[in-house]
Amino acid sequence: MFTRLLSTIFCAGVGFAVMAVPAHAADDIEAKAQTCATCHGQNGVPIDPKTIPIIWGQQQSYLVKQLHDYRSGDRDNPIMSPIAKGLAQEDLRKIAAYFAAKSWPAQHAAATSASPPKGIAQCQRCHQPNFEGGPPAPRLAGLSYEYLIASMRGFAADERTNNGDMPKFMQALTDSERDAMARYLSAL
Ligand code: HEC
Ligand code: HEC
Repeated sequence: MFTRLLSTIFCAGVGFAVMAVPAHAADDIEAKAQTCATCHGQNGVPIDPKTIPIIWGQQQSYLVKQLHDYRSGDRDNPIMSPIAKGLAQEDLRKIAAYFAAKSWPAQHAAATSASPPKGIAQCQRCHQPNFEGGPPAPRLAGLSYEYLIASMRGFAADERTNNGDMPKFMQALTDSERDAMARYLSAL
């Protein structure tokens, strides 16, 4: 009788544990993603968009690569490098998938419908005609002017070297051409 009771409890316990596994794995990523929300925002709008990029709805393959690059040191940043190093290797893809599946946050409609600046057509080959990105290139449309110009300058100055093409493209532009592109892209 006692053994039967024990085995009932045991079986119920196992059944519960098995059923709970998928939910628990999802909760786990959800919980890890909460850390990111401190800066990247609860609703996808970063707490300081000038220095912190939007990651909700960003291209998944790009997010995975950036997390790898921050971990390996190929992309160096005093804030993100230690955070990425603290993540488990097997979580990078899951965290990237979690954020890529979210919707890009709606923008306060910027009133500009400025014509595309000179030379920006060459960027569409990789960043796509609507600048929403496609593997391996990230979405640029709607990132802040300040973040875009800082990324572009970083490539131009060989400070950000985690891509072979982008430094050359950015070095071929003048400061004012990069500025016009960043303004245009941030208003999309
Ligand atoms: C303390 C603030 C902070 C926290 C917490 C944080 N980030 Fe970041 N994140 C930043 C900043 C600042 C940058 C820009 C760094 C740079 O310029 O390289 C950034 C950049 C990124 C990028 C690069 C995006 C792009 O467009 O290039 C990814 C991906 C990213 N973070 C993912 C995450 C994930 C995933 C987490 C949670 C595990 C997280 N971040 C937590 C501040 C933070
Ligand atoms: C040959 C393809 C290609 C072309 C052309 C190209 N890019 Fe890129 N761009 C990429 C890739 C790939 C990345 C991601 C690099 C990495 O892994 O960090 C990138 C990254 C960027 C980033 C960093 C975004 C972020 O979230 O940090 C900016 C800004 C950018 N490109 C702007 C431009 C502009 C402006 C042009 C046109 C003058 C351009 N790119 C042309 C492929 C391209």
